[in-house]
Amino acid sequence: MKFFLDTADLVEIRRFAEMGLLDGVTTNPSLIAKTGKSREELIPAICEAVDGPISAEVIATDRPTIIEEGLKLAEIHHNVTIKVPLTEDGLAACRELTAQTVKVNVTLCFTPVQALLAAKAGATFISPFIGRLDDLGMTGLDLVEDIREIYDNYQFATEILVASVRSPQHVRYAAKIGADVCTIPPKVMGQLIHHPLTDLGLEKFLADFARTNG
Ligand code: E4P
Repeated sequence: MKFFLDTADLVEIRRFAEMGLLDGVTTNPSLIAKTGKSREELIPAICEAVDGPISAEVIATDRPTIIEEGLKLAEIHHNVTIKVPLTEDGLAACRELTAQTVKVNVTLCFTPVQALLAAKAGATFISPFIGRLDDLGMTGLDLVEDIREIYDNYQFATEILVASVRSPQHVRYAAKIGADVCTIPPKVMGQLIHHPLTDLGLEKFLADFARTNG
């Protein structure tokens, strides 16, 4: 399973890129707003830091403007993937951008049939938002499981990009289901690495070494 980092924070992106963990990055308007910088300033810098698909989300909501904005963003770097909403206009724009060989990430997916539509529109990635479904008392990972089955039934090439990830357990089960990509917030990425027994074990090894080499 590929790992994308779900952030626009360049410090965090460089931190995990240094460990060789990142296959790409996803951003959205909320994540960009948190940095206080503009999308146009951040996307080229993120493309410098990570060699893989970098999702930049459009603000436009009507088909012609989504296409225009998407083509402009795609000019920034060959790794830029255009994130469009799962709406009528978003699907139509997905089809057109894909025809122009631009990679598209269809975002805000909450049902298996929405994912089926995105695949039919030629999406490179579909982003099911599992954490937001969990927030409503549903099981977001069930959505991922359904999409996997549907895409496999018809050999769709669209990659399942699990989004709205809240915990290491989400990553674990996304991998077991066979999701293609998980986009992971920096906090959860850190939780994947750290374990108290690793820290304790290391502390003991270092203490034992110091005792015999002191
Ligand atoms: C990434 O592509 C999504 O925009 C992001 O994972 C949404 O996460 P949230 O539900 O925590 O805002």
